[in-house]
Amino acid sequence: AAPSALPRDLEGRRVVVSAGGTREALDPVRYLGNRSSGKQGYALARVAAQRGAEVTLVAGHTADLADPAGVRVVRVGSAIELRDAMHAESREADVVVMAAAVADFRPLALSSSKIKKGDREPEPIRLAVNPDILVELVKARPTGQVVVGFAAETGDETGDVLHHGRAKLARKGCDLLVVNAVGDGLAFEVEDNAGWLLTAGGDEHPIPHGSKSRLAATVWDAIGPLLRT
Ligand code: CTP
Ligand code: CA
Repeated sequence: AAPSALPRDLEGRRVVVSAGGTREALDPVRYLGNRSSGKQGYALARVAAQRGAEVTLVAGHTADLADPAGVRVVRVGSAIELRDAMHAESREADVVVMAAAVADFRPLALSSSKIKKGDREPEPIRLAVNPDILVELVKARPTGQVVVGFAAETGDETGDVLHHGRAKLARKGCDLLVVNAVGDGLAFEVEDNAGWLLTAGGDEHPIPHGSKSRLAATVWDAIGPLLRT
């Protein structure tokens, strides 16, 4: 649709969106990373700006994506850097969206020099647990701020996608959780849906298959009624 056809319902709202994957350094030239493209977070930031919001995008590693028009972009590397940036940027925000793929673990030790191959068996890499940024943001949020999480889930022997989504929403304490159904069981698990939009209030909306822009619009539509007037 032409920009003029979009609602301007986020006019005057400050939003912070995280996107992309974190990289956890092993030494000056190596890291543990993930395959996140950042596209969903970028779409959320772009759509929010189109709908009138003042948007900050905190971006980890992404595919080669252009900065969305009218969006301030802050770049980060590791989960710890992402955490610091999110706390700093979210203080005055009306909405905070954690769409980033945060590494659950980081190497326990960071070698200050390049790890050499040597002639012995390699040492195992010991890991430390990264902070749960979403949980921290929920705890630190000012009154009225809406906090949104993302999750990719498969069903397993303990429950289906919706079951895991509900449990994660409760664990994180956020206002809205966007649950993407992933994996081979997709069609069986969720029939025609790409996932679920779950609210802390207990609303559960199936999300139809569609583009990342379409999903971004659906998410902002769901956030709208949660905003303070
Ligand atoms: N998240 C976060 N900090 C972390 C890990 C995840 O802020 N250290 C956020 C993600 O950005 C996302 C939400 O939490 O919005 C859910 O991420 P997910 O990886 O699904 O949750 P985990 O608690 O890490 O659970 P799992 O064991 O399923 O990976
Ligand atoms: Ca995780």
